[in-house]
Amino acid sequence: MKIGVIGTGYVGLVTAVCLADLGHDVVGTDVVEDKIDKASRGISHIYEPGLEELLKANLKKGNLSFTADLDKAIQSSDVLFVSVNTPQKEDGSADMTFVESVSRTIADNLNDYKVVVEKSTVPVKTSMWIKKTITSCKKKDVDFDVASNPEFLREGSAVSDFLNPDRIIIGVETDKARDILVKIYEKFKDRILVTNIDTAEIIKHASNSYLALKISYINLIAELCEKTDADVNQVAKGMGFDPRIGSQFLKAGLGYGGSCFPKDIRALTKIGEDLGVNMNLLREADRVNLDRIDFFVEKTKKALWILKDKKVAVLGLAFKPETDDIREASSIKIIKRLLDEGSYLRLYDPRAMENMRKIFPEEPPQISYVKSPYEAVKEANALLIITEWDEFKELDLKKIKEVMDNPIIIDGRNVYDPSEVRELGFEYYSIGRQ
Ligand code: UDX
Ligand code: UDX
Repeated sequence: MKIGVIGTGYVGLVTAVCLADLGHDVVGTDVVEDKIDKASRGISHIYEPGLEELLKANLKKGNLSFTADLDKAIQSSDVLFVSVNTPQKEDGSADMTFVESVSRTIADNLNDYKVVVEKSTVPVKTSMWIKKTITSCKKKDVDFDVASNPEFLREGSAVSDFLNPDRIIIGVETDKARDILVKIYEKFKDRILVTNIDTAEIIKHASNSYLALKISYINLIAELCEKTDADVNQVAKGMGFDPRIGSQFLKAGLGYGGSCFPKDIRALTKIGEDLGVNMNLLREADRVNLDRIDFFVEKTKKALWILKDKKVAVLGLAFKPETDDIREASSIKIIKRLLDEGSYLRLYDPRAMENMRKIFPEEPPQISYVKSPYEAVKEANALLIITEWDEFKELDLKKIKEVMDNPIIIDGRNVYDPSEVRELGFEYYSIGRQ
């Protein structure tokens, strides 16, 4: 099977590499030539565990290549996975400009039968628009099909999610397209669910919004726990034993970020409301999530009283551990608020500092990027934990206490045991726990 992957970003690059690893002949393409140049040389432009090794291995095998020539990539492929970005517009809906322009380019280059597969998260009915666009713009009388095959890749574990999927959703409208896609994912045939295209599109949005709801729910419960003697980690554990609830995605903290949940919950809200469905349940989940930032900044103020001129160590910038991605990361909003208050920030993250510098350039003494957590906490008045990297769980807290001006930890991800850190002499605040 000859497969083209259009857009080799976080999703597309993993998709291209993993499809090649399944044995297909894959060409990846992107408008950003630097990404293509790097990928062709076996360098991943994103940090994703296991990706670069697999990229190199499949380039060597010879069935994976990258090109900036989109026309050629389309012409030489039987199946095209479209994984360009679908950013959020001001009204919350997804901007489909890139998907539209790719559809036009596919139409221009349609030389024989192809299946055009939406991989990006798109509003329901997008396939109809792709089909309409290609039909009205194609130059040759050639047949094609549209399909939806949403991704369920978590950044930080995207490669293993791709190669060990819970389910493969295939939305199609013809048997021919179904057979082709089922063949691509033959290895996982016991986990394939074939549906119509609208269903597949909604499965993606409904899954992400449900997970976002679950996170907002536990964050709301965390607020309640703080006003009582309860411990939200224990509450989540107790709830999670019930298989109807499940233990995953019940980690209270600073809320969800990333390129999917915040955008997808708003896009689904807009889709529903445009169709006359009351989507207030999702609006509330979004509000609870946004409130996490106020909640955390207030906690920091309560600990420090005045934030002006305070030296604050910020550990964790990525929107979650094991990625360099900072899209919609809580850290961005928190840093902005602390800078507005006049704090001096020393920032550290194992992978995401380069990306964060583009938003907040180094500007000592207000903003400094440092090489280690120990450097960040030197003479600090407080230590904030924003992302739960393993590195932070393993810190030598005794050493940290010695070098801080005030031993105060405000832990946004509940990485430490409250009694243990207090025993070491820290003043400790976390989420949903005393
Ligand atoms: C993906 C999905 O596409 C998005 O819908 C989902 O909600 C989140 O995950 P992601 O891979 O994270 O997006 O985005 P990004 O890393 O920005 O990758 C998109 C790639 O497409 C970029 O490399 C961009 O350069 C490329 N692109 C964009 C094209 O090649 N052509 C275009 O016309 C537009
Ligand atoms: C998500 C989906 O999980 C994945 O299936 C795909 O559709 C793309 O979007 P991703 O955004 O990469 O993946 O990461 P995920 O692990 O889902 O985390 C999203 C956000 O939720 C992160 O900010 C994380 O910190 C937060 N989160 C997650 C919590 O706050 N609590 C939890 O219990 C779990």
